[in-house]
Amino acid sequence: MPQLITTRKSLQDAQASYQGKAVAFVPTMGALHAGHLALVEEAKKLADIVWVSIFVNPLQFGPNEDFNKYPRTLENDIKLLETLGVDYVWAPSVDEMYGATEPITIQANPELANKLCGLSRPGHFDGVCTVVNLLFYLIKPDYAVFGEKDFQQLTIITEMVERLKLPVKIIPVATLRETNGLALSSRNKYLSAAEKELASNIYKTISSLKAVTENDLTQAKNKLESLGIKVEYLESHWNRILVAARVGTTRLIDNIARCLSRCVKVDDKQDKLEHSFE
Ligand code: PAJ
Repeated sequence: MPQLITTRKSLQDAQASYQGKAVAFVPTMGALHAGHLALVEEAKKLADIVWVSIFVNPLQFGPNEDFNKYPRTLENDIKLLETLGVDYVWAPSVDEMYGATEPITIQANPELANKLCGLSRPGHFDGVCTVVNLLFYLIKPDYAVFGEKDFQQLTIITEMVERLKLPVKIIPVATLRETNGLALSSRNKYLSAAEKELASNIYKTISSLKAVTENDLTQAKNKLESLGIKVEYLESHWNRILVAARVGTTRLIDNIARCLSRCVKVDDKQDKLEHSFE
């Protein structure tokens, strides 16, 4: 059973019990699914001690977003983590996390943040950087595992770690999908069965793109719109194709490597390209 830690004091006590051991960390907002668990499995391979955080971070939600309705399933999450041999779950209250004073705010690199999701979610990536920096300060991981599902977030956090010279190595993990291609997401809980089927067209459409000219991207966007999916953006950056779209009222994001099925991977140059900044 993972130990549930909810106060800074018990966090310090836990840390004192394993001094000198390597630590891998998976930050999450809970409502865990197989995508999160793939990150945890990677963490288990990296270090002796594995921490998972479950914290719905108010700083990264806009005033009209789903902070209050975001699914909270702590008991079930802990059961899932138990099967994977996680050592500690950090699940503090908002007060315990941020304390009585204002947290040190970290600004996301504006060049990386002022596009894609950053346009419709102003301040979102500052909220993500602020919480992840504080989580790193508290947990002190040697490795931190993030999903490629949130590719802009992964890119921004990688840059933040370099900029602030934080002593942690960021480990990316590929996106886990349903068999129909839909990327697993905690927000899929908002979708009906029919909406899930419709949403699978997001992945199908971006993975059938043969090229990434303006024209190709516009056609893909039109195809999704014609199916009743409202596309917020469908663009190419960092050698990926990235999309945000609404199915019903639920906002979903996804991305793929720009030439996943069309390029022969001869060495690891492709990965380096994917994780370099534009
Ligand atoms: P959350 O949405 O819970 O995601 C936690 C981690 O799981 C992120 O690194 C995300 O990219 C990864 N993830 C989600 N779906 C995935 C999938 N289908 N396959 C692989 N990985 C997947 O991202 C956040 O929380 C928050 O912004 C956080 C970083 C915790 C800061 O609050």
